[in-house]
Amino acid sequence: MSSQSQAQAKFREDYQAPRFRIETVDLSFRLEATATRVTNRMQLQRLAAGPLELDGEQLQLESVAIDGRELDASQYEVSPSKLVIADVPEHCELTIVTQINPSTNTALEGLYLAADSFCTQCEAEGFRRITYYLDRPDVLAIFTTTIHAPQQYPYLLSNGDKVDAGSDSDGWHWVTWHDPHPKPAYLFALVAGDFDRLEDTFITRSGRQVSLELYVDRGNSSRGTYAMESLQRAMRWDEERFELEYDLDTYMIVAVDFFNMGAMENKGLNVFNSRYVLADQATATDTDFVNIEAVIGHEYFHNWTGNRITCRDWFQLSLKEGLTVFRDQEFSSDLGSRAIHRIQAIRTIRGRQFAEDASPMAHPIRPDKVVEMNNFYTVTVYDKGAEVIRMLHTLLGEAGFQQGMKLYVERHDGQAVTCEDFIAAMEDANDYDLQQFRRWYSQAGTPEVVARLNYSKTNKTATLKLTQSTPATPGQKHKQPMVIPIRLSAYSKAGRKLALQSNDACTGSESEGYLYTLTSETADLVFTDVLEEPIFAMLEDFSAPVRFDYPQTSAELTVLMAAADSEVTRWEASQKLFTQYILTAVRKNTDIALDLQTVAALQEFLAADIDPALQALVLQPPELEELAEHFDVAIPLEALDRARRQLIQQIAASLAPQFERLVDNYRARQPRYTIASDAIAERALVNLAHYYLALHEPRQFGPWVIEHFERADNMTVQNSALNSLIQLNLEGREDCCQKFSQQWRETPLALDKWFAAEASSPQPDTVERVTALLAHPGFSLQNPNRVYALIASFSRNMLQFHRADGAGYALVADVIQRLNTSNPQVAARLITPFLSWRRFDSDRQQQMKQHLEILSKLPQLARDLDEKISNSLAA
Ligand code: TRP
Ligand code: ZN
Repeated sequence: MSSQSQAQAKFREDYQAPRFRIETVDLSFRLEATATRVTNRMQLQRLAAGPLELDGEQLQLESVAIDGRELDASQYEVSPSKLVIADVPEHCELTIVTQINPSTNTALEGLYLAADSFCTQCEAEGFRRITYYLDRPDVLAIFTTTIHAPQQYPYLLSNGDKVDAGSDSDGWHWVTWHDPHPKPAYLFALVAGDFDRLEDTFITRSGRQVSLELYVDRGNSSRGTYAMESLQRAMRWDEERFELEYDLDTYMIVAVDFFNMGAMENKGLNVFNSRYVLADQATATDTDFVNIEAVIGHEYFHNWTGNRITCRDWFQLSLKEGLTVFRDQEFSSDLGSRAIHRIQAIRTIRGRQFAEDASPMAHPIRPDKVVEMNNFYTVTVYDKGAEVIRMLHTLLGEAGFQQGMKLYVERHDGQAVTCEDFIAAMEDANDYDLQQFRRWYSQAGTPEVVARLNYSKTNKTATLKLTQSTPATPGQKHKQPMVIPIRLSAYSKAGRKLALQSNDACTGSESEGYLYTLTSETADLVFTDVLEEPIFAMLEDFSAPVRFDYPQTSAELTVLMAAADSEVTRWEASQKLFTQYILTAVRKNTDIALDLQTVAALQEFLAADIDPALQALVLQPPELEELAEHFDVAIPLEALDRARRQLIQQIAASLAPQFERLVDNYRARQPRYTIASDAIAERALVNLAHYYLALHEPRQFGPWVIEHFERADNMTVQNSALNSLIQLNLEGREDCCQKFSQQWRETPLALDKWFAAEASSPQPDTVERVTALLAHPGFSLQNPNRVYALIASFSRNMLQFHRADGAGYALVADVIQRLNTSNPQVAARLITPFLSWRRFDSDRQQQMKQHLEILSKLPQLARDLDEKISNSLAA
């Protein structure tokens, strides 16, 4: 680690309680683009001896006063990150006036002006860019906020209830907001601008009326209705499943175009990236609609898991994020297809989280050491965090889990607490020992379970020999055994479900499946009276975030694919089957030839009366990123890609006649567009059919894709056809891209789909096309959504990012360098694929490492980048 980032590292173990309580804070803003004045009046109560050390960055201090008396400069010390006042009474009123410049704030942290609106983003440590403060989540204060602004900003919004408003003598106007719920500064928000407002209401289960307000850019209100309905569904769901009710009279959501992340749960005033709000049939895909519902739910659910009960310190981030992701996943699963949502979550863990766990930035879901907090909004903290909550749910059951949640809320409402407090509540409510389970919070890395089956015909016993281990990660050499809940069931060769008996080790039944909890390093799981050799479905529903090594034959996997009760298990069997084909071909350097049994199984799966959304998922092999996870070092990228393509070719050829009928039938019916789940499912399969047909026979079916594109009355079909044209480099591609970019030149979120499609293409000229698009008038490095669509998509494109000549690396490194000073948070997100340079061949290693070294020497290297680069070069 460089001395710079080392010096700034913070450790979880060093937590100290704050020296002061801030009881109330009165903020007054005079909003001006280049010079906004912030007056901050706090009531302070001393809790421990010592100076008052307030956080503050990029602030111009005008004055400090205690109990109305201005201090002179000798009475305090100002540094680039602190304001320290040595002498502060037990109780006092501290008033601080500062100036900030929102118009030059391109980092989008603190108060910024973008696209003619003022907007704030304070999580994690952005409030210190607004005023001097105890910017830490365990300081909870009651906020009153007054906003003064010119009339060109008709809406002046902040947290809580609007309590007063008026006009200033200079023609400006003002509004005062009061939030009665004490909150940490990271939940503060202010928005000022001109919007269209959608209004609706929600009646809570106790009969209170809540007014719902959604603010979008002028002219976009019709694209906000789905988000509004999603909000109402989320509010109802949280009452029904968790008995949690909303607690203010107003719930506001503002959609903004400039935003580093997805959305932010500010109390009573969520700020959303417009891509998680705006949607209609023409501009948004089915996936966009699903994501909107999930993110709207996520931010709403934070009102209890995050806001009412918040984090003591930022090391505890998963306390709110893991739990809230679990809650939003359950929301989506209760409202839509549980299996499809589960499959997507599993893909995220296997494709992205496992890679993070194997990288130099590996960290436990509750990190121990942090330099830049923004670097820890990760798939580990969020998605693995949610898997850990899900394991608790599996171990305790829904009723036990809900009892634990009740106790957690009862005990800690209004407090800033730790992951430990959450576990303790689960433990106490259920009288269940979670001592060993706590390791999921402290140990990084992906555990691996190896399972081997030994069936004895004579004894009629089936023995599963289980072994677990967790690889070393930076700073954690030796690992201890984890608590690993393993769901399993067994089938006969004929696909009949088998009842299992196992001396109490397993709970459950034939119909609902069994649960075995592995806690030791090795264990024998013995089943008795097993009349024929069973086919096991192991780790069903991905019951723990682990790698599971359990060899099965194609014959066994096709049985599971055809006959398993669980849709997730059927999908899992197909993925394992495909993975085995690919890995065998790569390891033996041979060609793939699908056996007849597999072909028959795929054809039957497509012919059967099964949810088309599941069919579409089952018929696609894992992505390259997931396949790469089967190699620790020297990832054989080209070989994996070649084998994967061969496999896809053969799947497409085997299914072509069925897909042709399917498309014929779809064209004849021309179903009307709806966003009902059966319509979404049909589109998923029909789109896949077009892609597979064109891949199989481009000359015959390429024109079908063009027709699919031209006839599309919705973005789901249009976008899918566009992707097929680009990925397969079909004739007519340029023409369709031209039409698409022309049609959507005024709709950035739609144009992003074209950027992402070009950037994700496996074609060999992708680097050049992405480079050309950097100069497209619709592109801008200042807007994170554009950067994510074009550059982040490209950096996730394993094949072309890692192009052997290094052009992909150079392209992304150049963008990172340009964003280093303007938006470090976004720059740091783009650097992730470079960090794992040790996992590639020596040529690539050298090139990637060289880029990291060059970046590490940038003048004014952002802390975000410094931490990641140092970790990567040191590990
Ligand atoms: N708390 C937000 C969420 O998950 C995350 C978030 C939004 C965020 N904007 C951010 C985190 C900016 C860091 C920086 O819902
Ligand atoms: Zn969140």
